[in-house]
Amino acid sequence: MKHYLSAGDLSRPDAEALLQRAQALKVEWKHDGHPELLLRGKTLALVFEKPSLRTRVAFEAGMTQLGGHGSYLSANDIDMGGRESVPDVARNLSRWVQAISARVFNHATVETLARYSSVPVINALSDREHPCQALADILTLQEHFGQLQGLRLAYIGDGNNVCHSLLLLGATLGVNVRVACPFDYRPDPEILALAQQRAAESGATIAISAVPQEAVEHADAVYTDVWASMGQEHEAIRRRQVFQPYQVNTELMALAQANAVVMHCLPAHRGEEITAEIMDGPRSVVFDQAENRLHVQKALILTLLGM
Ligand code: CP
Ligand code: NVA
Repeated sequence: MKHYLSAGDLSRPDAEALLQRAQALKVEWKHDGHPELLLRGKTLALVFEKPSLRTRVAFEAGMTQLGGHGSYLSANDIDMGGRESVPDVARNLSRWVQAISARVFNHATVETLARYSSVPVINALSDREHPCQALADILTLQEHFGQLQGLRLAYIGDGNNVCHSLLLLGATLGVNVRVACPFDYRPDPEILALAQQRAAESGATIAISAVPQEAVEHADAVYTDVWASMGQEHEAIRRRQVFQPYQVNTELMALAQANAVVMHCLPAHRGEEITAEIMDGPRSVVFDQAENRLHVQKALILTLLGM
């Protein structure tokens, strides 16, 4: 694996090895920090066209903890595609840094960066995928339930970037993923086809419906995300109406397993896609997911750098 643009870039053994590495880094960090600073002298560029809390801080803190440095470049700094073409940004950065993480509007931008970069490129969220998030989510499930094979994950809401990466990584690792979303907001058919193929190989199942109650029934984990993603703010009012029946609340959670966990990639809008009661309740693992961003992103950088 040269770059990590999609959760589908990981084979099952690659994904398992990466999660194991993340878990080991987590344990090591909690005990002694990292005695061996594997990324000493190395720099990760963070090219971000959109805001971020978790992804940015997890990359920057992760680099620092491993002895390296994260260099953050906002849209204001480099205006990718405006001040300078995407290929030229990639060619320049490749001369100074050891890896590039990029948060972009169009998925094609991370693909172009990867095409012209001689160093690994990581998708830090695009309109199509959020593959770093999916790694943290799956690690959280593995820690919580002890195993992934056969777990039932219900994703409720918009068939968006977060949903796409979860479908791909979940299916690869044997997690049964049931998505409930309004008809016009279903996941991309190409992603679904790949997820189905991965599920056939791993023994998992994938199901899409418009009925949240159906998806949540007997689920071990119930996941939701904002109804309007970054860049879709102008659609927020319409989306609030369409997605209202897809709110994750106490009533819906009552249909899941008694020990089911609630997941959200954050930031969350309490009172919209999730009620405050559920988000802040005892079943919520949202801050474990957030913490795990750190551990998986460190594992990812080390893996991509062949370390
Ligand atoms: N979940 C997530 O990616 O958060 P940020 O947008 O704050 O990075
Ligand atoms: N789907 C959301 C995820 C934010 C982490 C977005 O793209 O804005």
